[in-house]
Amino acid sequence: MGIHARIQAEIAKSVQFDGHSHMPNTLAQAMEYAVFPGGARIRPTILLSVALACGDDQPDLTDAAACALELVHCASLVHDDLPCFDNSDMRRGKPTVHRAFGEPIAVLTGDSLIIKAFEHLALHCTTSPDRAGRLIAHLAEYAGTPNGICAGQAWESEPNIDLSAYHRSKTGALFIAATQMGAIAAGQNADEWSDLGAYIGEAFQVADDLRDVLCTTAELGKPMGQDAINNRPNAVAQLGVAGAMEKLNDILACAIASIPACPGEQALAKMVRMQADSIMPSADIVQRA
Ligand code: IPE
Ligand code: IPE
Ligand code: MG
Ligand code: MG
Repeated sequence: MGIHARIQAEIAKSVQFDGHSHMPNTLAQAMEYAVFPGGARIRPTILLSVALACGDDQPDLTDAAACALELVHCASLVHDDLPCFDNSDMRRGKPTVHRAFGEPIAVLTGDSLIIKAFEHLALHCTTSPDRAGRLIAHLAEYAGTPNGICAGQAWESEPNIDLSAYHRSKTGALFIAATQMGAIAAGQNADEWSDLGAYIGEAFQVADDLRDVLCTTAELGKPMGQDAINNRPNAVAQLGVAGAMEKLNDILACAIASIPACPGEQALAKMVRMQADSIMPSADIVQRA
């Protein structure tokens, strides 16, 4: 099975409630709606690619880790779109979860996906106690506080934002989680893999800034121009389009140079370049600017 098929199958399994007659139907539907058809699945793709580069000797655990990471990411988007955060009506080209199912169900959908993520990893504690335990601890670190998404989102409620901490924890954290969890799932040391995750996270942030400025709402599937509207820092506002593209390419070169020695090093470098191409605005879009 290819990487994308492995991710989709494992996520489908995690939100499957057939035969559970006590599960309220609206919450079941909203959880599925929040994860399917899904977005680019970039974080679990990176996680699986790192695990494959390291031998992927426990593929069931790798799949569970990739799924758990994507569930946390999807939950963060459901909560981020709520009226008390960004008040967004559209996500991935369709109405946001609170628009489709109402606010109480959207709050519960985000909560339930986060809990499901940890449950999904905990199911492996009897067969792979050491790796599963480390995966749970790493996911908690990068989802929560003080270095994870919760902390990152909380910077928006501070009178003065520490910009680098904001980006590192809001966006970068789940990319570090992706590379480290891929290594852990394959029985490797996580520390060596944090630089690659941090560089990919930084590149993703610059690419996201470019798309926010250059793409239309229809192309993005979510509202464009949000950084200017919300008065948030943006690499294009700081460096211009050409400067931001140059910065993105510099970070990518650092990302590829930071890949630790491993059996699948070359294939992994190729995957990083492919993922970068998929997040960069296309040449037509850049030309249009
Ligand atoms: C969006 O992430 C949230 C940010 C951190 C900017 P993605 O662009 O990876 O979202 P999906 O999962 O592909 O929709
Ligand atoms: C997305 O952040 C949510 C998290 C990273 C938790 P943003 O608000 O910056 O991204 P979009 O534009 O809604 O995807
Ligand atoms: Mg936000
Ligand atoms: Mg938002």
